[in-house]
Amino acid sequence: MALPKILLTRTLPPESQRLIEHAQDIELLHWKDGVIPRDQLLKLVPGVSGILCTLIEKIDSELLDAAGPNLKVVSTFSVGYDHVDLSELRKRKIHLGYTPDVLTDATADITSLLVLAASRRMREAIRAVEDGEWNVWSPVWMLGTQLTGKTVGIVGLGRIGVATARRLKPFLGANGKIIYSGNSDKPVAIELGASRVKFDMLIREADIICICCALNVQTREMFNYGAFKAMKKNVILVNTARGAIIQQDDLIRALSEGLLGSVGLDVTTPEPLKPDHPLLKFQNVIVLPHIGSATLETRTMMGNLAVENVLSGVRGQTMPSSVEL
Ligand code: DGY
Repeated sequence: MALPKILLTRTLPPESQRLIEHAQDIELLHWKDGVIPRDQLLKLVPGVSGILCTLIEKIDSELLDAAGPNLKVVSTFSVGYDHVDLSELRKRKIHLGYTPDVLTDATADITSLLVLAASRRMREAIRAVEDGEWNVWSPVWMLGTQLTGKTVGIVGLGRIGVATARRLKPFLGANGKIIYSGNSDKPVAIELGASRVKFDMLIREADIICICCALNVQTREMFNYGAFKAMKKNVILVNTARGAIIQQDDLIRALSEGLLGSVGLDVTTPEPLKPDHPLLKFQNVIVLPHIGSATLETRTMMGNLAVENVLSGVRGQTMPSSVEL
């Protein structure tokens, strides 16, 4: 009898790659040449029982139609699943695996790093050294913003939002405050001393805003010109979630009008950004190339979990981490 096929769209970290290659009860179709072109994806997918994909591949009705009725499970190597059409999966009774928890620490580290880097003008300071603009020590040169006593606003107090709040809290000292916005009160907020406020209030009150929510219809472009205008003039804005939560043209307009203090982005629209992109011209903007989860340990845990998800799904077993559809 033919073995069930799994399509793996990228090469995984070594340990995870070995894990899927050692599975004896499946036939592995592995795309080895970087990002799989859409036409190749559509060509390879017919008849597969499982797909292990990344956040780059759109899982939509066209792809699911091409895959056909054998498809039981899509396992994404990511915690975000905005690239997956959930209603199409639901309609076809296809399960979705994802990789929450294992990347929380790494992503919260990058979020905190961007807050610190933005507040202390890290990009300008490094560039000044490299460009020979570092003159004799001066009491008034390269002054950043102190975090002590400031208010941090977390948009989306989920796993990553909580881990970020925990990391930033000690920097704020006794007079600092944490506020958050979201659909419901979170019990963990008590331990953090954080209070839930409306989004409109959060953007007005926070000195530091961390975007830690998922991208969905509610959050798409919720950071628009109106929001930027309402923020404090020296606000530090950090996004490590998804680029589309920010209306990026509005962000550029707000930055050119001097409405924002400094911005740290690990996610943008599109990705990658071209080196001549207008966003990169602002000295008070730090852009990282979507590396929130990029540690060997985390990517290995994500890979292993994504492999266990797809294998369990194909074998008809319960997946270790699945999305409720
Ligand atoms: C995710 O998992 O959704 C991140 O954006 C990449 O690790």
